[in-house]
Formats: sequence, C-alpha cells, structure tokens
Amino acid sequence: MTMTTPDQQRAAGDSTPLPGRSLLSINNIEVIYNEVILVLRGLSLVVPERSIVALLGSNGAGKSTTLKAVCGLLPTEHGEITDGSITFDDHDITHLDAAERVRRGISLCMEGRHVFEHLTVHENLVAGGYIRGRTERTDLDTVYEFLPRLADMRNRIAGFLSGGEQQMLAIGRALMAKPALLMLDEPSLGLAPKLVQEIFGYIARLNAELGTTVLVVEQNATRALEIAHHGYVMEQGRLVLDGPAAELRDNPDVKEFYLGLGEGGVRKSYRDVKHYKRRKRWL
Ligand SMILES: Nc1ncnc2c1ncn2[C@@H]1O[C@H](COP(=O)(O)OP(=O)(O)OP(=O)(O)O)[C@@H](O)[C@H]1O
Ligand SMILES: [Mg+2]
Repeated sequence: MTMTTPDQQRAAGDSTPLPGRSLLSINNIEVIYNEVILVLRGLSLVVPERSIVALLGSNGAGKSTTLKAVCGLLPTEHGEITDGSITFDDHDITHLDAAERVRRGISLCMEGRHVFEHLTVHENLVAGGYIRGRTERTDLDTVYEFLPRLADMRNRIAGFLSGGEQQMLAIGRALMAKPALLMLDEPSLGLAPKLVQEIFGYIARLNAELGTTVLVVEQNATRALEIAHHGYVMEQGRLVLDGPAAELRDNPDVKEFYLGLGEGGVRKSYRDVKHYKRRKRWL
C-alpha cells in the first residue's frame, strides 16, 4: 500500500475524507435560550475535512440550534453557549462574531428560503459573494456550472421563483462565499422527491469535486444517509447515536424512527411510529 500525504490526496482530486483531520469540532456544548431554556445539553460532534456529515433527529431535537451555534447566530435569538467549545480549523471560535466566522469559511444555508426577493437570481448570487469580498467571474461560473438551473433563471426575480428554485438559489448564494464548511438546514424541506434527489446530487458533487466539507441537517434521513459519510442522531439536545452512514442506514432503530420502516421493511403508519416514539427513548 502506498501512503499519500493530504496534499497529494487533494492534488489527485481524491474526495475521501482525510482521516484524523477534523475541520469542525463541537466539544460538549450547552446552549441556553433566554437565559432559562436549556436546549443543547452537552453535545459533541466532529466533522472531518472533506466529509459529508448528516445530523438527524426529530422536531425540536436541537439541530438548527447546533448549526446556529457553529455560525454564531445564537445571540440574534437571545441564545448563548454557556459551556463547552467549538473549534474550526484548529482555532477556538466559540465566542467569535458571525461575520468573522463567515470570513473564516463557515456558511449556513438556513431552514426555509432566505433569498433577496426583489433581486434577480444573478444579483442574489453576486450579493452572496460580497460576504467574502469582491465577486469574481470564476465564482459565478462555478456556481452556474454546479447549479445549471440557476444559469437558466439568472434574470428572473427571486421572489417569483418556486419554492424548489428558491432553495437552489439559497444554496448557490451560500456557495458564492466559497465556504470551507457548508452547513445546510433541511435543504429538502417541502420539495418534490425529484427535486430532493437533484439537490442531494448537487451536494454530493460539491463535496466530491470541490472538496467542500458539508454538515447537513435533515428530516429526510434516507437521502441524507445516502450521500453522507458519517451520521449523528440527536434527541432532546443530546447525541444518542452516531456511526458511518452505511451502518446507520441499516440500524433498526434509525429505520424505525427516521425512515418509518418496521421489521420486514413494512412502512409503519405515521400514527404507529409517533406512538412508539413516545414510549421508547433513544437511551
Ligand atoms: N430562539 C429561541 N428561543 C427559545 N427557544 C427556542 C428558540 N429557538 C429554538 N428554541 C427551542 O429549542 C428547541 C430546539 O429547537 P431547534 O430549532 O434547534 O430544533 P430542530 O431540531 O431544528 O427542530 P426542527 O426539526 O423542527 O427544525 C425547541 O424546543 C425550540 O422550541
Ligand atoms: Mg430545525
């Protein structure tokens, strides 16, 4: 077996995550909203460089809060990291402001579509690039190449696009900041299955071809675990399970709770799963 250095690996365009090099590390954080509501209770997770990590969990588990803690958006919602730390690219960023984190290469594509409604698709993308300084022609070309639908719609007003189109635009805008870490909060929310497949395909390509590290929060566990290398499952502000994505896909508990499949591959009714969820906790 020949050994390759990380640089050789990068030069060769190898998309395999680099073992041992974590880009993002969340260390035992506690998050409190409004000084009283404890939402994250000692959460730790690691996102290796060049990997896709899926963060799964039911409604209210604290997934969006985790992403906001990483990109520094908690103070705008009266939230605070009261314990633990967050390390990005070997630097402690726990208390940096959001703008500084963006400059360091962290980009969040939020739940719901936050596009500038009165601007065209093209103008939205240019605005996304300003976050990290001047927009270069090549940045736009790259985004149009990865999301070709956006190129076709470049002169359309963002507010009149369909939900799925706006979602693509939101992803494209996040990409304009050339993030080292792209975080996506429920990119498949409200999209038709075909578009969900398309969006996950783009995410996988971004990771494989540009080497972008991705942390994706999803309710759609099946899709997320198809493209992810590693997955974490959280419940009530804590991690309850993690492992290689392929293993999680086969885990009976994950199938039952998040993929809605009981034994024998029979899809349980929503009501059954809900009921079962109430009886059984992850730990
Ligand atoms: N700004 C806030 N102020 C007070 N409580 C909040 C705030 N934001 C979230 N919470 C609470 O924190 C908990 C976790 O919320 P969060 O949005 O992180 O969950 P989630 O896992 O992203 O859920 P979903 O799948 O529904 O998006 C919830 O109980 C929620 O009510
Ligand atoms: Mg959420």
